[in-house]
Amino acid sequence: MASKNKITMTRPDDWHLHVRDEKFLASVLPDTAKRFARAIMMPNLTDPVTTTERASEYRDRIINALPNEYKLTFDPLMTLYLTDRTTTSEIKKACDSGFVHAVKWYPAGATTNSAKGVSDIVACYDVLETMAEEGMPLLVHGEVTDPSVDVFDREKVFIDQFLEGILKNFPTLKVVFEHITTEHAVNLVIGASDNVAATITAHHMLLNRNALFKGGIRPHHYCLPVLKRENHRQALIKAATSGNKKFFLGTDSAPHTRSSKENACGCAGIYTSHGGIEFYAEIFDKADALDKLEAFASFHGPDFYGLKRNRDKITLSRATVAIKDSFPFGDEECVPLRAGGSLEWSID
Ligand code: NCD
Ligand code: ZN
Repeated sequence: MASKNKITMTRPDDWHLHVRDEKFLASVLPDTAKRFARAIMMPNLTDPVTTTERASEYRDRIINALPNEYKLTFDPLMTLYLTDRTTTSEIKKACDSGFVHAVKWYPAGATTNSAKGVSDIVACYDVLETMAEEGMPLLVHGEVTDPSVDVFDREKVFIDQFLEGILKNFPTLKVVFEHITTEHAVNLVIGASDNVAATITAHHMLLNRNALFKGGIRPHHYCLPVLKRENHRQALIKAATSGNKKFFLGTDSAPHTRSSKENACGCAGIYTSHGGIEFYAEIFDKADALDKLEAFASFHGPDFYGLKRNRDKITLSRATVAIKDSFPFGDEECVPLRAGGSLEWSID
């Protein structure tokens, strides 16, 4: 039920999230667990989560790092990191586990901790076949890694060179095109069958690529896929607020230490979990589509993954909430999106 200054809606889930590991977990998990009932945990740890056994251990570390108040209310949904050597029996194990909900395809070298990802997707065709049979979703980081391709074109070229072929060869495979950034990706997803969906981040709807260079170089606005032109930002907002069940919330909140961002070769990733639902409320409000937020944030994701929708509710109110300049992250600090600024919505 939407009204102008307050919205009560089914508790949302985050379908794409990085929480890192060990000492970093406790610094970021409360932001997510306060807002979301579940989150798809990305497997790109320094030592990637390539097996069901590792996913189980990682899940335990996440639950141990949660504050007591969230240990029973927050459910980390685990994923496996696909490599050229992933076996069909490992996939079957993951499907039987009940806690692994997807397999992530990082083209090797595409992004943070992707070096051990897939160098040749054709080598994974037997695995994709098994996933299609078992109904296990493939989550795709959709960018080519060819250094001769312009960095702003890598998503479009990936669609042409890889994604269309995969969708044709595996028509029943569930595919989530993750953190889409272009109108090409929006159109691909709209035109594909119902087993193809996409997550959309808040930062790709809040910022265009000018934000990388506003008054100087802005490492805290650098992420992958990189921010795009204004027409693409508009296409993402239109898709997210359209009510189309193929689009759902995935923050891609990706914390890095300040020192690894403010660096001659800074890491890709933007931290947004401190406003994990509030940023989306702001975007939907500005698009005059607050009535579409609940389905995007709380219904389309579980429906696609074949999970139950959450039963409890949250309330968001229009209110100015200050965002800190930084917060403790392990024994360092992390600079969140819009540091020193404010959120326009608050969660009760
Ligand atoms: C992510 C990270 O830091 O792990 N970075 C990012 O810019 N989004 C990886 C990813 O999702 O590409
Ligand atoms: Zn990510």
